[in-house]
Amino acid sequence: MSATCKAYRAAILHSIADPAEVGIEASYQYFEDGLLLIDNGKISALGHASELLPTLPSDVEVQHYQDALITPGFIDTHIHFPQTGMIGSYGEQLLDWLNTYTFPCEKQFADKAHADKVAKIFIEELLRNGTTTALVFGSVHPESVDAFFEEAERLDLRMIAGKVMMDRNAPDYLTDTAESGYTESKALIERWHGKGRLHYAVTPRFAPTSTPEQLTLAGQLLGEFPDLYMHTHLSENLKEIDWVKDLFPERKGYLDVYDHFKLLGERSVFAHGVHLCDEECQRLAETGSAVAFCPTSNLFLGSGLFNLPQAEKFKVKVGLGTDVGAGTSFSLLNTLNEAYKIMQLQGARLSPFKSLYLATLGGAQALSLDERIGSLKPGNDADFVVLDYKATPLMDYRIQQSNSIDETLFVLMTLGDDRTVKQTFAAGRCVHQR
Ligand code: GUN
Ligand code: ZN
Repeated sequence: MSATCKAYRAAILHSIADPAEVGIEASYQYFEDGLLLIDNGKISALGHASELLPTLPSDVEVQHYQDALITPGFIDTHIHFPQTGMIGSYGEQLLDWLNTYTFPCEKQFADKAHADKVAKIFIEELLRNGTTTALVFGSVHPESVDAFFEEAERLDLRMIAGKVMMDRNAPDYLTDTAESGYTESKALIERWHGKGRLHYAVTPRFAPTSTPEQLTLAGQLLGEFPDLYMHTHLSENLKEIDWVKDLFPERKGYLDVYDHFKLLGERSVFAHGVHLCDEECQRLAETGSAVAFCPTSNLFLGSGLFNLPQAEKFKVKVGLGTDVGAGTSFSLLNTLNEAYKIMQLQGARLSPFKSLYLATLGGAQALSLDERIGSLKPGNDADFVVLDYKATPLMDYRIQQSNSIDETLFVLMTLGDDRTVKQTFAAGRCVHQR
């Protein structure tokens, strides 16, 4: 045990499997009086305080929290860093929203100084909300990705990001070319992929804004480097889907466009997937591709209701995304509150343990990172959060009425937001404290 060893004592909860696969009771571990032992940025032990405390050397510092719950850090599987300044833009659905608000906002990221400033605000906001890993869209400018990764590296965060590739159907000031999209992405991959805890995602914005040539080169990049991610949008909005049919009449459907260009796979994440047919779910599952479920965005842009039971039926990997700036909150607790309502509107339920799974281990599995993050199993990165039962007077009072961890967890998700996150730890270091 090294000098960097530290112990955290509190109620501790984490997911260990998908409740849809193993049932709720087998999906989690809960220690009412637990101890989490951290050594050199990794989790070295997890268990009951009564069992672990006697085994600790006397010089190990133990931080004891009352009225708090430790869980793994949250994982946001879809978010746009350059849209931080336009969150909450009024009145439009997807395609008009992009033209009216998004493209002008992203234009500013040609300026590295602007990108640097927003990268700090953005990452601080992630950490304030307990998000320790995110799959992040940059803008078309490589500067945006440099700014984001520089700040993530400084804090030793596990993050995934990429430069947008977009060579048609967008303003001239925001397009690359098939060739420059490829060479700029390649330079960023060589600079950042695998550095510290950083990973690169090849990021074609969505099928309508890339030519077949650009999508071909995106597929080629994935073949050239090991373990790259692929991150794009899929079947979010009905007009968008019609547009894809017009642009690619020779393809069976929207997902088939990406499939044709070899963009599906274990490290591919498709945001939204609100309007998928069974055949598309089948294809996502058999290729190990994941969908990012983005509740606040789907409601805000009026895109539709994600069919989680359909994804479960076909065993499609699903993570949770905020999709800021179409999403209206950086908080995955708040996002789960909206996810619950989306299920209610479809006559389905979202249990608090499935919710916890989506925000943590499910996200890690969607990103093929479950051997490193998403649960508190020994050996994993020490990325975790301390949630405060007394964050607000109402939460304090409501949790006093709670009789079980299920109920407490559901209240945290229904009333919770950034105020609930007392501390955020990344690689064993405290990176946010309220
Ligand atoms: N589809 C293409 N680009 C975007 C974007 O920036 N946000 C969302 N929500 N959908 C998109
Ligand atoms: Zn998005």
